[in-house]
Amino acid sequence: MKIISVVGARPNFMKIAPFIRAISNYNESVSLPLRGTSSLRSLSPPPPLSPSSTTGHIIHLLVHTGQHYDDRMSKAFFEELKIPEADINLGVGSGTHAEQVGHTMIEFEKIVKAEKPDWVVVVGDVNAILACSVTAKKENIKCCHIEAGLRSGDMTMPEEINRLVADRISDLLLTPDPISSENLRKEGVPEGKIKFVGNIMIDTLEANRERAGDMKISEIIDRNLINRKEASGVGRQAEGKGSELRAQGSGLQPAPRTPQPETRNVKRETLSPELTDFAVMTLHRPSNVDRKEVLEPIVKFITEEVCVERSVIWTIHPRTRKMLESFGLFDGMLNTKNLILLEPLSYLEMLKLNMEARIMLTDSGGLQEECTVLGTPCLTLRWNTERPVTLREHGGASVLTGNNIGRIREEYHTALEKPGKPVRPELWDGHTAERCLRAILEFE
Ligand code: UD1
Repeated sequence: MKIISVVGARPNFMKIAPFIRAISNYNESVSLPLRGTSSLRSLSPPPPLSPSSTTGHIIHLLVHTGQHYDDRMSKAFFEELKIPEADINLGVGSGTHAEQVGHTMIEFEKIVKAEKPDWVVVVGDVNAILACSVTAKKENIKCCHIEAGLRSGDMTMPEEINRLVADRISDLLLTPDPISSENLRKEGVPEGKIKFVGNIMIDTLEANRERAGDMKISEIIDRNLINRKEASGVGRQAEGKGSELRAQGSGLQPAPRTPQPETRNVKRETLSPELTDFAVMTLHRPSNVDRKEVLEPIVKFITEEVCVERSVIWTIHPRTRKMLESFGLFDGMLNTKNLILLEPLSYLEMLKLNMEARIMLTDSGGLQEECTVLGTPCLTLRWNTERPVTLREHGGASVLTGNNIGRIREEYHTALEKPGKPVRPELWDGHTAERCLRAILEFE
């Protein structure tokens, strides 16, 4: 069997990593004598595959459309999550949606025609899934969508259009939760195409929890700080001055420093103090960042209200940075006390921040899910979500606030009063990738 799987943008990488690992585990296991057990060894309990479906290796090719190309948005994830380098990079880059989708289709068609895979596997909801599922189906190649069935009901979101198209034409729809399966049924998708497998991103979270736990917040800040010189209380200005900072009432709360031996690493001295009470902020949706009248009040809330109480670590997406600069908001942020502006983080770095954050403010769907599993209170700055399972009313950690400041403020204070508790939706167990591969192998 030959499978081409496709990635394009940052949120795809953590979803494809476990799938590729499942394929290589499978290939290893088919090299071994079968001894009557499943070839997918790590499943528990392992339902046996029929011998006919275990014959032969899977040939796998990874195609990167190139939508995200900065090292911090792409390469860093490949290295950290040990994803093998893409076999083919389509080099599509930035552009309008039509440009990205159009270029991807033109380039991907050449690959599909040359490689003639049995399956094309797409994950998530970025432009690559629309472009590559359509291209594959037009070449009569079977298509599998991992993370199928999510619906926000918001047709102004480019991701919703991508999901609808990919799900309408794919042969195998692997869903992260029963609500998503039900969405597909309501749309008339035949039962045989739908398989509830769990959330593949949680495979990556579980595989990396320990590594992330070993990281230090201060080192993450130091590596990624944008406002190193400008910000007060962070970066170099914080060198060895934890107590002074406290005395100045900066709001930063460095952990007590243990006396350092003479031989201590000089680099260690440049580190920011270890934070213990901080909020994490991420924002990148066009609906939040592309209009000044929406973005400016959010920035004011963070800088004038939240930063007065505690540090805010804001990791800045390239789209958001461009907009902040063009609206003339960025310079003010650079100089805001307690506002720690960071470049886009690696997977492990973001996971560590999420593990330690007092509260998350975000418009990212993936972070909503991770907050649910980690128990971090999460304000989702959107009016709808395709991931209802993460909402408080479904037992999750997240609450929808839209971009209404009154609502964000109210929910911010409510969330701080409620200690978060980790929740694990059904089948978010770290073994989704194996179920995905099994579904493909068993597909009739
Ligand atoms: C895309 C996805 C979105 C996902 C997000 C995560 C779609 C429709 N959107 O949105 O679902 O949540 O990724 O990040 O597929 N840019 C860089 N460097 C890069 C990549 C982009 O500077 O490596 C700039 C581009 O020039 C562009 C902006 O960032 O102006 C936005 O990039 P784009 O690929 O259009 O979409 P995202 O907003 O990142």
